[in-house]
Amino acid sequence: MHNPRLALLQNYPFQRLRDLLAPLAPAEGLAPITMALGEPRHPMPTLLAEVLEQKRDLYNVYPPLAGTPEFRDAVGAWLNRRYRLPAGMIEPERHILPVSGTREALFMIAQVVVPAEKAGKKPAIAMPNPFYQCYVGAAVAAGAEPVFVPALAENGFLPDFAGLDEAVLERLSLVYLSSPANPQGAVADLDYLEKLIRLARRHDFLLVVDECYTEIYFDAPPPGALEACARLGGGLDNVMVFHSLSKRSSVPGLRSGFCAGDAAVMQDFARLRSYGAAGMPLPVLAASAALWLEESHVATNRALYQEKFRIAESILGNRFGFRRPAGGFFLWLDVGDGEEAAKKLYSEAALTVLPGRYMTWENGHGAAAGRPYVRIALVHDAATTREALERFRDTLT
Ligand SMILES: Cc1ncc(COP(=O)(O)O)c(C=O)c1O
Repeated sequence: MHNPRLALLQNYPFQRLRDLLAPLAPAEGLAPITMALGEPRHPMPTLLAEVLEQKRDLYNVYPPLAGTPEFRDAVGAWLNRRYRLPAGMIEPERHILPVSGTREALFMIAQVVVPAEKAGKKPAIAMPNPFYQCYVGAAVAAGAEPVFVPALAENGFLPDFAGLDEAVLERLSLVYLSSPANPQGAVADLDYLEKLIRLARRHDFLLVVDECYTEIYFDAPPPGALEACARLGGGLDNVMVFHSLSKRSSVPGLRSGFCAGDAAVMQDFARLRSYGAAGMPLPVLAASAALWLEESHVATNRALYQEKFRIAESILGNRFGFRRPAGGFFLWLDVGDGEEAAKKLYSEAALTVLPGRYMTWENGHGAAAGRPYVRIALVHDAATTREALERFRDTLT
């Protein structure tokens, strides 16, 4: 009776984690700390509540799915500033759409670009492995074959999409990349992005670059795919980027993001969204526009993460393969067996972490790459983070 494609999906990582820990009890006498979920717990910018309050009368209006000119202009200005884009490259009316958190839109975009057949065969969607699980759900729901490309330590955790067989490349309708990557924190440089954009144009697939962690970094701001488009020429063809306020502004509950890119894809996406998407409420659009125009809260937020990476470095040193990731807020630590470590940390230290295995596709190429790891989200305040990482070190060494 139900859509049989759903049965192809493995349980979502947090369900798998609940199942793993269900038979166990957390260590007694210690306050439980969960570092499994990438949910920012930093203070929310005060601007948010101010604008929501000013605009509260607008909840009685159905929001326009394309957002407001103010929202699109604010996003366009941010993209231009952040990625030093040439004037006129981004036309906010044609190239930008608000989305109610990027997860729903990353999922839905597959419905736009997956045809019934490509090169006379079943279309394929490629993604890294390990990876953010939404991508595989999108591929399966759209009827495409998910293709997993290992993201391994030896290649800097950046998948080699160009190395796929020609027969697979010609069936690709979409490639997902996250940069900075969840879970490994790897950042694709401009050369990598340019090569991937060229590949997308040569094989006519859509390259989706998920850049929601791009404002959380240690040294240099991670480059973006639109910046690579500007260097390459050819406009925004075959490229879309996704950005979110969830991490940049620590407001995961606001459900506010945007996508930007290829005008022809955006047009079809807007068409699909007019049937099935939740519009972003007008007060949220106004608050989001204000947040995209404001940078000081982002710098404060980034500094809090940087402090926690320093704490992590001082506690972990070079144990567990610790390295400061180029971007994002996760530690991706080699503990030998991620599931066993997660159980031990929970029952002996009341600490919840995510086994790396749950960020992989079990039977996909590259799945073994996740097994030795756990993912730790540095989303709490500095004191909680310190306490958690000390427990981690003391339990596993
Ligand atoms: C890589 C990646 N992309 C997208 C998202 C979705 O973020 P949101 O829906 O809050 O914008 C997340 C959330 O954790 C993520 O880790």
